[in-house]
Amino acid sequence: MCGIVGYIGFRSGVAECLRGLERLEYRGYDSSGVAAIDTQGALAVRRAVGGVANLSQSLEEAGVVGKTAIGHTRWATHGEPSEQNAHPHVDCTGRFAVVHNGIIENHAALRAELKLKGHKFRSDTDTEVIAHLVEETFEDAGTLLGAVQQVVERLRGTFGFAVVYSEGEDKEIVTTRSGSPLVIGLGDDEVFLASDVVAVMERTRRVLFLEDGDVAVLRPDGVTFYDQAGAQVERDVTEIDWSAEAAERGGFEHFMRKEIGDQPGTVERIGSGRILFDHKGRRRVELSELDALLEGGTVPSRIAAAACGTSYHASLVAKWYLERLAKIPTDVFIASEFRYEEPLLGQTDAFLSISQSGETADTLASLALARETKLASLAICNVIGSRLTREADATFLTQAGPEVGVASTKAFTSQVIASLLVALDLGLRRGSVSHDEADAILAGLERLPTDIERVLDDEAHIEAVARRHANARAFLFLGRGVQVPVALEGALKLKEISYTPAEGGAAGEIKHGPIALIDPEVSTIFLATPSPTHRKLMANMSAIAARKGPVIAIATPGTRGLDTLAQDVIHVPHVRYELQPLVNTVVLQLLGYHVARTLGREIDKPRNLAKSVTVE
Ligand code: M6R
Repeated sequence: MCGIVGYIGFRSGVAECLRGLERLEYRGYDSSGVAAIDTQGALAVRRAVGGVANLSQSLEEAGVVGKTAIGHTRWATHGEPSEQNAHPHVDCTGRFAVVHNGIIENHAALRAELKLKGHKFRSDTDTEVIAHLVEETFEDAGTLLGAVQQVVERLRGTFGFAVVYSEGEDKEIVTTRSGSPLVIGLGDDEVFLASDVVAVMERTRRVLFLEDGDVAVLRPDGVTFYDQAGAQVERDVTEIDWSAEAAERGGFEHFMRKEIGDQPGTVERIGSGRILFDHKGRRRVELSELDALLEGGTVPSRIAAAACGTSYHASLVAKWYLERLAKIPTDVFIASEFRYEEPLLGQTDAFLSISQSGETADTLASLALARETKLASLAICNVIGSRLTREADATFLTQAGPEVGVASTKAFTSQVIASLLVALDLGLRRGSVSHDEADAILAGLERLPTDIERVLDDEAHIEAVARRHANARAFLFLGRGVQVPVALEGALKLKEISYTPAEGGAAGEIKHGPIALIDPEVSTIFLATPSPTHRKLMANMSAIAARKGPVIAIATPGTRGLDTLAQDVIHVPHVRYELQPLVNTVVLQLLGYHVARTLGREIDKPRNLAKSVTVE
């Protein structure tokens, strides 16, 4: 969605903001802007439509300088993308500048009230009310901190914003959050602000996350935090262990492709330190992460999970693992539905929240609902310090490193493995998985990085298949059993980056409707790797082939019957059934990527999409 950056210290605040904005460009934006306070205390604001390069040119032409600055990349919600609607927004006196993420739900009422008091609005945005409210309250409050604290009381919605003031004796940035993430990076005599840690990582690894309701005052020598009640509070410093290179494209054309290629490493990392050996030399898992979930050692009688998008698909795979291995009934909900329903939750249930970012509004609201019902909760999350990790009782960090491409790839495979490890741990505790079975699955997991490497080595062939089908009118992704969520994920990946309609689902369902779509311009991808229902799946494939629908089969070498039914076959290594989703997913990621690339799409920044959806 939108991105916020800020800098206060000894370097050029303008240059630092531009650097941070470039890091956030992957989130997609339509305009950007910077406000800086120069050594004379004057406020200069420049905004531009289009890329950060346009803004940089405008700042340079105007000669804007300053060691205190805030910046923003905007993704229009209120008001069309234009220079006038780009942030920062300023008040009537031109002393206060504001950058804002999120939505101020009561902006219309506030705007009307402020207009009656004589305030002049220059944009159509909800954000501008914040600048005028700060102006309105500043005289009474006496400080920028006091003004922001009063303004927050008037706002409804989700927001994170930062304000600078041109005439303050002490140069400072005041920032606050309610629902939209903000992180502060600590340097030596300099402080950074951003809505995403990737924007500060290059400068510092010591970060502090704002909690909801916090107001923070940034000065070059440090940060002071105040909680919702206005009391000064301490917030813990978190050390980020992601490498700066992890957020670079590393020579790849797109972040998405680089992140697909990261998977042998991320898969290896997630198991390391978590796979142990028992006295007989058998592999086992015992996750310390689950301690807070299993108070008194009691395993939940049922699990409810709610998530969005790719993380929802990972939750569906988690259900399969939890029911198959741990024998715990599991229900998976779409978070945007769950939060407004009246889910039947029992006191001995546990709640599972899977999210890459840990900041997805619907996922967080679902967790809040589960917590109201007093359910113990587990978050599977990639971002340390994110709100989800702070609000769940227990957190399993997937450690996949920063995922920059909007299309989730390595985060998904890490989420799936995390849920496999959770299911194995619970299964071992309950005795529903034997030690030998756990050992065999974990041994397979150890070999998985090599298996994924083999898929990556076959990229040229996968690309050729993608090129042959790139102009299909639509795609169908079909599987059975644990491959159904993989099919859903394959369809989501392809459609979000190629804009070609794609549907995923259970192969056995096609005769109940989807088969009507089939003609020579609709390609169907079958997840045809070995499974207990393989023969049924082959019958489904025959039904498509009989209707002249082109078939792409993903199968292990030696699978019979494909030569007559499939136009293209992509071979994958044979791995255990529980692990096949991981290998097959990588093929689907590459397939979607190369279809989108053939069609010339903006792969890392697909239209209308944001990396993390922090508003409803
Ligand atoms: O950060 P989260 O995992 O909670 O995000 C959930 C979805 O917005 C996300 O997975 C989305 O579907 C991806 N763009 C899919 O590639």
